[in-house]
Amino acid sequence: MALEMISLKSPREIEAMRRAGRLTAQARALAGSMVRPGVTTHEIDRAVRRFIESHGAKPSFLGYGGYPASACISVNEVVIHGIPGPRKLKEGDIVSVDVGAFIGGFHGDCAATYLCGEVSPEAKHLVEVTQQSFWEGIRYARGGGRVSDIGHAVQEYVESFGYSVVRDFVGHGVGTRMHEPPEVRNFGPAGHGPRLQPGMTIAVEPMVCAGDWHVQVLPDKWTTVSQDGSLTAHYENTILITEDGPEILTVTEDGTYV
Ligand code: MF3
Ligand code: CO
Repeated sequence: MALEMISLKSPREIEAMRRAGRLTAQARALAGSMVRPGVTTHEIDRAVRRFIESHGAKPSFLGYGGYPASACISVNEVVIHGIPGPRKLKEGDIVSVDVGAFIGGFHGDCAATYLCGEVSPEAKHLVEVTQQSFWEGIRYARGGGRVSDIGHAVQEYVESFGYSVVRDFVGHGVGTRMHEPPEVRNFGPAGHGPRLQPGMTIAVEPMVCAGDWHVQVLPDKWTTVSQDGSLTAHYENTILITEDGPEILTVTEDGTYV
């Protein structure tokens, strides 16, 4: 099989990626604003779908590999790919929402973990460290660096708190397809993998466990949980590599990243 190239986006394509990213970030913020005790994950998913479709876009996840919803909503020990349903959120839950939108030929992809009402200090700390690990990682997301510099920085930061990073799922390039090369790991040594170049667009998405990093996919083939049942969190943005550093594409007009 031929080695698939990493696409470099033209200025026109970058403008389209910004538009998709903005809409995706707005959908994330909408979902986050709905997280409170008593709300079902299905209600949040329905709002995300309506929002994306009302802007002339398509939910990237809906039907992807047979995925049945527009958002992944992953509560507590569910790390990723939680399928929305009748589950009611309750006080103290930590709720990860992952959304994607496709418009103008390009995707945006982002996620964040939200606190449902009052949560334990331990849970809140896990969420904060996960979010911060993204920013630690993307300090290395600039032309000339290597893809693995990002994951190395994420891992160092996360493990300094005694938490662990998931190995079985990784970040990825984003563009005309939701998943493009390169693979963006959240672990491993620095200085490996493709060289980062201006015009690359990638999703950096640390998935963090309070306990051990091993995860398990449930029989529904999607829901992915920490094997030890420990709490987990997720944070993701689609970013553009520039000469000077990263530009976050999944940001709302008023500069919201969660
Ligand atoms: N943001 C996730 C990812 O990067 C979501 C994909 S879930 C799927 O892979 F349902 F669309 F598959
Ligand atoms: Co992603």
